[in-house]
Amino acid sequence: MSDAIGRYKQQAAAWAVEAFFRPGMVVGLGTGSTAAFAVRRLAELRAEGRLLDVRGVPTSVETEALARSLGVPLTTLEEQPVLDVTIDGADEVAPDLSLIKGGGGALLREKIVAQASRRVVIVVDAGKLSPKLGTRWALPVEVLPFGWRSQALFLESLGARVTQRQRADGEPFLTDQGNLVLDCAFGPIDDPEMLAARLGTRAGVVGHGLFLSLTTDLVVAGPDGVEHRAR
Ligand code: A5P
Repeated sequence: MSDAIGRYKQQAAAWAVEAFFRPGMVVGLGTGSTAAFAVRRLAELRAEGRLLDVRGVPTSVETEALARSLGVPLTTLEEQPVLDVTIDGADEVAPDLSLIKGGGGALLREKIVAQASRRVVIVVDAGKLSPKLGTRWALPVEVLPFGWRSQALFLESLGARVTQRQRADGEPFLTDQGNLVLDCAFGPIDDPEMLAARLGTRAGVVGHGLFLSLTTDLVVAGPDGVEHRAR
């Protein structure tokens, strides 16, 4: 990540925390480097004595560990099934604010938390904007280990070039649920709703990174500053 991109991610995340988090809220805490900046900004505000009663629901084991290390109070969707607002990152953002997510592998919990949130605020650097989903990012698809090669063939039959995600040591990447991720390069996706419907009916596909009609707000930072778009 270049210094400039890191700075844009930090600016978007900090702006969103200050604009959308309010005292007493229960908030979703996203996953990834941009969402981590939001957790850090929340911790900074707490250190100033602000937002002390805000509680977070983390979208991954990684985010849970970060929040705990910074002393951010946490709760669960079991205790709080409706969240006020979630701040999360994305890998690719289309003009209608639909997304591809899952670069960090947390797509399933991220989607569950987003679905439970009244407001979903996506924070990105301007490089994530795209004319059409799939143009610049492969679609992550989470599959059960059982029968995963059948899912890979199914995804290829839909037009994807499929790569099983691996860790740096060459072992299969496992999600927080113990599933595999198949990164599916479709190229520009003409009909994301149709693709999401096909994926949604396939046994063995546990989740996918198409986030359609979930974003309520986009905060994007780039060379021209921070811009907020509401859907
Ligand atoms: C995590 O699974 C993803 O959905 C992230 O939100 C996404 O990959 C964005 O990551 P960065 O903020 O690190 O670019």
